[in-house]
Amino acid sequence: MQTSTAQVQQDPSRYRVLTGDRPTGPLHLGHYFGTLQNRVRLQRLGVELFVVIPDYQVLTDRDIADRPAERAEELVLDYLAAGIDPERATIFTHSAVPALNQLLLPFLSLVSVAELQRNPTVKDEIAHSRQSSVSGLMLTYPVHQAADILSCKGNLVPVGQDQLPHLETARTIARRFNDRYGAAVFTEPEALLSEAPLLLGTDGGKMSKSRGNAITLGADEDRTARLIRGAKTDTERRIGYDPEQRPEVSSLLLLAALCEGGEPQEIAEEIGDRGSAALKQRVTEAVNEYFRPHRTRRAELAADRAHLRAVLRAGNERANAVADATLAEVREVMGMR
Ligand code: TRP
Repeated sequence: MQTSTAQVQQDPSRYRVLTGDRPTGPLHLGHYFGTLQNRVRLQRLGVELFVVIPDYQVLTDRDIADRPAERAEELVLDYLAAGIDPERATIFTHSAVPALNQLLLPFLSLVSVAELQRNPTVKDEIAHSRQSSVSGLMLTYPVHQAADILSCKGNLVPVGQDQLPHLETARTIARRFNDRYGAAVFTEPEALLSEAPLLLGTDGGKMSKSRGNAITLGADEDRTARLIRGAKTDTERRIGYDPEQRPEVSSLLLLAALCEGGEPQEIAEEIGDRGSAALKQRVTEAVNEYFRPHRTRRAELAADRAHLRAVLRAGNERANAVADATLAEVREVMGMR
């Protein structure tokens, strides 16, 4: 069920990627090196890109989505600044595509409650949820995510480990739908497992939109410098790359290496025993240098809100056309015409 980048390179036009980010906050350097860069790379190879902004999914663990329209616009800005080409990509929100949401109903009938309850990522989210009870959406959002993917017949989903159970659900639904209705409507989407190393946040935990430990893509040079200066390190003066024993220092070295295009070990040697302050100085320069063109592009894009909204409007229109066609096919084979 996994595809490699090498396979994609051989025949990029075979693939349609569907991926997305919950609109719960601004994207950060972890997203950039973890997924955004890869989307841009895939797009440049000639892979067709669909990006969902899953605004309904935000409701899994909170009562209301916080400023969903504004957050969607911010995500479009993050995407375009990172280099996603809106002429060729389809960027859309869940809530603007009724046919996608309607697919949820037949799809729900194809999975059992026991299966939904076994999903390890959902179990983990429930364990960490701020809510006092588990909503029906929390249990069923992986099915909704299958609708994201299958409504546009995405066949390649770039994912981190935590999303693999959801992709398995989508594959199961595609297979069972075809079996139950005796028609080859869906193909099972494949995972493109991220090779990107994980960046830690400034507190040493996983860099996260909601933990307040992230260096966001919208941060300017000064803010970035301040955040890096305040990042957790250790007291050993000699800088070394050892992700197991010295995760914070190693994550900073990795960040510098990603920006400079070098190796973290070499950067560590160059800094030698000049300590954390020298390391942070190096990282700050590397990040600010690397993101200079990004920030310039971002400032231009941010000044034209109408353009951002137009990109989303065009994406929503296209996603509707594609999802309408899929739903029509689904209803046809279900005998609902
Ligand atoms: N669950 C993903 C996240 O938390 C977002 C997402 C929604 C997604 N629908 C998707 C990812 C479909 C891949 C494919 O970030």
